[in-house]
Amino acid sequence: MNKILRTNNYHTVEDIGDAIVKTFKRPKRHLSYDWYDWYKSFYEETKVCCKILEFKPYRIVMEKVEGVMLDEWWNLYACNKQNVYNVYKVLKVKNDIENVFYNWNSKKQDMYVHHSDLAFYNIITDNELSKHIVLEPEGFHFTPFEYHDFYMHIFSHLRDFSTIGHFARNIQMNYNPGEFREDRKYKYLHNHEMIKK
Ligand SMILES: Nc1ncnc2c1ncn2[C@@H]1O[C@H](COP(=O)(O)OP(=O)(O)OP(=O)(O)O)[C@@H](O)[C@H]1O
Ligand SMILES: [Mg+2]
Repeated sequence: MNKILRTNNYHTVEDIGDAIVKTFKRPKRHLSYDWYDWYKSFYEETKVCCKILEFKPYRIVMEKVEGVMLDEWWNLYACNKQNVYNVYKVLKVKNDIENVFYNWNSKKQDMYVHHSDLAFYNIITDNELSKHIVLEPEGFHFTPFEYHDFYMHIFSHLRDFSTIGHFARNIQMNYNPGEFREDRKYKYLHNHEMIKK
C-alpha cells in the first residue's frame, strides 16, 4: 500500500512498497542524462548513495533503503542515553561519508561531486552504524570545478556540532521537533509584534 512519507510546498515523498517515489512541484533542471551517468558511476563505485530506478526532472523513483535515519539514531542512542561514545560514533559516520566524497574527488579530476544537504537527517544507517547511505539523490551535483576547497562546506563539522547541540537542547527541554517548530513560530510572531509596536 502506498504511504506518503512527506509532503510540502516543494515535493512529495511516497513509499510505494518496494520503492520510494519523490515528486517535485518544480522540475529540477540539473536532473539530466549526463547527471544520471555521473550519479550511476558514483553509486557503483562507492555505494554510499541509493540506487535510482527511474528519473525525470520532476520525479525520481529510487530503491527503498531499510534502516534508521542518523538523526533518529542520535536521539535514541546518544542524546537520550547521554552516551558520549555514541556521539563520537555519529560524527565518525559523517566523517567516513565525507571521506568517500573526498576520495572520489581526488581521483576523478575532471568531475567533482558534492551533496547540497549532507546532514544527519539525510543519512540512513542500520542499528549498528555499519552501513550508511546518503538520501536525496537530487542533492547530488556534479561539476567540472572543484569548488569544494573554497566552499563553506569544508567547515561542515561545525554544522554537525551545532546540529548535535540543537538536538541535545530539544531533548533536555522535552521538545519534540514539531513542538520546537511551533515554539519558533511563536517566537517569530512575538518578535514581529514587538517590531510593529
Ligand atoms: N530511498 C529511501 N529509502 C528509505 N527511506 C527514504 C528514502 N528516501 C526518502 N526516505 C524517507 O523519507 C524522508 C524524506 O525524504 P527526503 O529526505 O528525500 O525529503 P526531505 O527531507 O523532505 O527533503 P528536503 O531535505 O530537501 O526538504 C527521509 O527522511 C526518509 O526517512
Ligand atoms: Mg531529507
